[in-house]
Amino acid sequence: MIETTITIDGPAASGKTTVGYELAQAIGYVFLDTGVMYRAVTLASLNAGIDPNDEAAVVKIAESLDFDIQPEVGHEDGRHYTVMVNGIDATWELRNSDVNQNVSAVSSYPQVREEMVRLQREFADGHATVMVGRDIGTVVLPDAPLKIYLEATAEIRARRRMGDHLQRNYNTVEFEKILADIIRRDNIDSSREHSPLKPADDALIIDTSQLTPDGVLQAMLDAVTERQLPVLNA
Ligand code: DC
Repeated sequence: MIETTITIDGPAASGKTTVGYELAQAIGYVFLDTGVMYRAVTLASLNAGIDPNDEAAVVKIAESLDFDIQPEVGHEDGRHYTVMVNGIDATWELRNSDVNQNVSAVSSYPQVREEMVRLQREFADGHATVMVGRDIGTVVLPDAPLKIYLEATAEIRARRRMGDHLQRNYNTVEFEKILADIIRRDNIDSSREHSPLKPADDALIIDTSQLTPDGVLQAMLDAVTERQLPVLNA
């Protein structure tokens, strides 16, 4: 079995999950969006009636988390994978607003991160993986042969997120809210003490502001070719 990893990091709504998934499909690698793991700890904490600000209690939840992720090609509701949290399908619940509100706090706890990083390394072990997150190239898999960092202005990311959510009802109030949330999350993710969001020193930085998703994918595929990484479904 071929073990190799491509890491993709970047801020909220930088498109890393969408293009990361497409890249994995294109070259036959397994895909892991590590954001869902921090979301799973947050959801499991909320479901257990735990205050997400109670660090010690959240750490216990992280340490006993029963987490599973399975690829789903061609699922009728459009999902790319199914996430099981403590035995229950939580794929869509992980995106709810309670989780959105609390996941930054939960992901700032060092012991939660330690546990997630351990699971992420285990996942990469023995596979060809595209792993997406905030600290994958810097902390989780610093020896990966290709590390990518996606960036785009907060305004452009907010506009894209708007497009995802409501292609129809574009209105300024919604846009301002989405933009404010993206800026809030950028600040928390990049200023936290443990594993802050930043590009690895040797990351390939792709500014996606002026690129279509296909353009970003092409830039990544060019990098795969340049570094002579194995393409498994060629
Ligand atoms: O990518 P996302 O929006 O699903 O991530 C959810 C949260 O988890 C976000 O606040 C950042 C955090 N996160 C992290 O700290 N480290 C990762 N490797 C992935 C996500």
